[in-house]
Amino acid sequence: MTPIIATITFPLIGAYLAIFWLILPVFNYFRDPKGLRKYQKLAFFSGISDIPYCYLSSKGFRSKGITEAHKKAKSAILRIGPNNLSFSDVKAIKDIYGHSTPCLKDLKYSMTGGPHPNIFDVVDKAKHSEKRKRLSAAFAIKNLVHWEFKVADTTARLLNAFDARCTEPLPAGSNPMKSDLTIEFNHWINLFTIEAINSIALSSTLGVLEQGDDVVTAERMDGTKYKAHYRKAQNTSAYAASHFVWDYQNFWLFCQLSKIMPKWRKIWRETEPWKDVIYHQTITRLDRYQKGEKLDDFFASLMDSKSGAPYNLELGEIIGDVGAFIDAGADTTAIALTQVLELLIRHPNHLDTLRQEVDSVLEGETVAPFEKVRHLPFLRSCLDEAMRIIPPTSAGLPRRTPAEGAMILGEWIPGDTSVSMPAYTAHHDPSVFLNPEEFQPHRWMDPEAKKKMEPFFVPFSTGGRGCIGRNISYLEQTVMLATLVHRYEFALPDASWKLQRFEAFNLLMGQMPIKIWRR
Ligand code: HEM
Ligand SMILES: *[C@@H]1O[C@H](CO)[C@@H](O)[C@H](O)[C@H]1NC(C)=O
Ligand SMILES: *[C@@H]1O[C@H](CO)[C@@H](O)[C@H](O)[C@H]1NC(C)=O
Ligand SMILES: *[C@@H]1O[C@H](CO)[C@@H](O)[C@H](O)[C@H]1NC(C)=O
Repeated sequence: MTPIIATITFPLIGAYLAIFWLILPVFNYFRDPKGLRKYQKLAFFSGISDIPYCYLSSKGFRSKGITEAHKKAKSAILRIGPNNLSFSDVKAIKDIYGHSTPCLKDLKYSMTGGPHPNIFDVVDKAKHSEKRKRLSAAFAIKNLVHWEFKVADTTARLLNAFDARCTEPLPAGSNPMKSDLTIEFNHWINLFTIEAINSIALSSTLGVLEQGDDVVTAERMDGTKYKAHYRKAQNTSAYAASHFVWDYQNFWLFCQLSKIMPKWRKIWRETEPWKDVIYHQTITRLDRYQKGEKLDDFFASLMDSKSGAPYNLELGEIIGDVGAFIDAGADTTAIALTQVLELLIRHPNHLDTLRQEVDSVLEGETVAPFEKVRHLPFLRSCLDEAMRIIPPTSAGLPRRTPAEGAMILGEWIPGDTSVSMPAYTAHHDPSVFLNPEEFQPHRWMDPEAKKKMEPFFVPFSTGGRGCIGRNISYLEQTVMLATLVHRYEFALPDASWKLQRFEAFNLLMGQMPIKIWRR
């Protein structure tokens, strides 16, 4: 920057910051037009700035941080930003997210969404129902049977890779040698969920399970192709956006400013291929559609109604929704499966109970048939308990009260206020889940107790904007976990080994190296 530009620019930036970040916020704080000053704050500055929340978020586990802050303040309502309230009483779930809530998705979703809002980030209610209705046929429970063979095929492909990486049985009481940690489970299970969702949504096989890495074809809008890392690009996109998104007004500014730093320039560069992977996957499938190929997948239900009438959606909208499935449908399920396996390895008694249950219904099949395992109560309890103790999407999903305001937890919350309740907070409420820090699958085995917990068990959120892929995720998780525990034994590096996490939108995970051998 030349000195002359600097002498003009820096005072301008200084004046901007002083006015918009200090003078106005402080003024508004005392003017208090919405009456939010009566609520306790997350941090001293939370009444005038979103920065404390951004800071908490940058530390990597904001949902846990918020849960603890509520406890410390002994308050069910906490002001986490000038216009943002967090709730910690499970009764707020229904008010904020339930089917009859007047709240809509907050502006955050339009920040991170593309030019064509997709089913995940569209805010408008009518537009959302239209999209959701189109897809509900593809997601309906009776259609699960259509997807089962895709999941089973993909499971068999993962087993090929695992069989080739099996080691000798581990002598009891010892730790695996480093060279025996042949499987990075989170990596492999994510390759599985990537293949599964691309098969279910687009009838596409990427070949990442055969390669053992995530290199796929990406394609720019101008038709040029290149190789890109699928997982890395998706993961980095989630990581990067999560750093700045909690301050909507300044999202764009922060993103631009971050590019001054070489570290962030590299991060932003790594996110680039993600949209090109989505584009390539969409355009390849569209080509098959245009050539008249009849395929059974989600894509088909984006193109034609059940009676075969074409919807003629714009390309941008198709790309958007394809992006939504393959984004929302892969890492969440991989996180859930990594976590449940980790917990079971650490709790051998529960792993034994699960094996007995699974072994009792399987008769020599390699891949567990869904019909045989879908109703196994302990299997489902293990999956649910793992998603309870650390939900893959743990954080408060921001909603916005309507202009006239809304009743939440018996309080009148003024209009256009951002409200949320983290799933993590709900799942760690001791009045609903006894000893919430303990992994106890048995808590789900008593039908009476289960009925009491279920309304507050919200890993997939709830209401009209709840997860549309819930049943598909259970299908994948159920078949995979049953198959794995039936076929293999597992060991973690050692008892003190810890899973690394970083909470972006989802609770991203680091690596989980394990040793496996055949039972
Ligand atoms: C363990 C696995 C999963 C978890 C924990 C999970 C969690 C969630 C949550 C919490 C939401 C609400 C998000 C919000 O309010 O911002 C959601 C929405 C959504 N999920 Fe999932 N999900 C999982 C698997 C899947 C799968 C497998 C698919 C696709 C097949 C999928 C597709 C979607 C879509 C399209 C939405 C947006 C729904 C709408 O707004 O109508 N998810 N998911
Ligand atoms: C709080 O809500 C406002 C808009 O109402 C938004 O600009 C801001 O980014 C939100 N902050 C958090 C921490 O959600
Ligand atoms: C999932 O299946 C249950 C029945 O087990 C059904 O009530 C629910 O509507 C299904 N959810 C979706 C999103 O299709
Ligand atoms: C995803 O991002 C998180 C947070 O930066 C990191 O811990 C993890 O290793 C990343 N995973 C991949 C596959 O890049």
